[in-house]
Amino acid sequence: MISDAPTFLAQFVRHPFTTGAVLPSGPGLAADITAAVPRTGHPVVVELGPGTGVFTRAIQRRLAGRGRHVAVEVNPAFAAGLARRHPAVEVVRADAAALGRVLLDRRLPSVDVVVSGLPWAAFPAGRQRAILDAVVGALDAGGVFTTFAYRHALPARPARRFRRLLDGAFEEVTVGRTVWGNLPPALVYHCRRPAGAGSPPPAPAGTGSGCAPAATRCGAGVAGT
Ligand SMILES: C[S@@+](CC[C@H](N)C(=O)[O-])C[C@H]1O[C@@H](n2cnc3c(N)ncnc32)[C@H](O)[C@@H]1O
Repeated sequence: MISDAPTFLAQFVRHPFTTGAVLPSGPGLAADITAAVPRTGHPVVVELGPGTGVFTRAIQRRLAGRGRHVAVEVNPAFAAGLARRHPAVEVVRADAAALGRVLLDRRLPSVDVVVSGLPWAAFPAGRQRAILDAVVGALDAGGVFTTFAYRHALPARPARRFRRLLDGAFEEVTVGRTVWGNLPPALVYHCRRPAGAGSPPPAPAGTGSGCAPAATRCGAGVAGT
């Protein structure tokens, strides 16, 4: 939303390296990056780095009240704003690297879709690896990971390093169209078949893998880890 721009910019000034952008993403990028969220069943969707919630809104529209939507945001101001606006989303103020703990606390053994809004190219190698390991560890064997990159930054070393990490972590990585209307233009990586993923443990009744209705919702408020 254009009205989110001042909030976003203020957080960029305070936390440039975690915010990683001066403006929120646009609706075209949000549509592309959330396309893997199933329109049927009861999927478990994790969102990393929701910021002011442009991807959150798109995920919620696709879920239309089904499944679980856990949003992990490290910035307390973003997390509080998101929880106020989206009472149906389980907002957790945490580092995305702690995703395993977040899911354990919620008794979610595996995840169908992870949508990332994280600024990977602003992260050092160790952080990229730690968060990607957490994502791969969380995904169901049939799960999908989507994340975006700014087109102009693709030649930069951290962006190339992240792309190599993706290629090692997933058997299939496809690159979406460039969304020229986004500021700045960006593209989506669609990652499938996490390398080394085995059969997930059986889900507790009512959760996981897009089958049964979600048993619980945390509702409004921000949970910590
Ligand atoms: C580039 S902004 C994207 C925000 C939003 N998804 C969008 O596209 O407009 C990156 C977001 O990731 C969050 N973030 C950065 N590092 C994080 C981490 N380690 N764990 C969780 N969130 C993080 C930032 O606070 C910010 O909200």
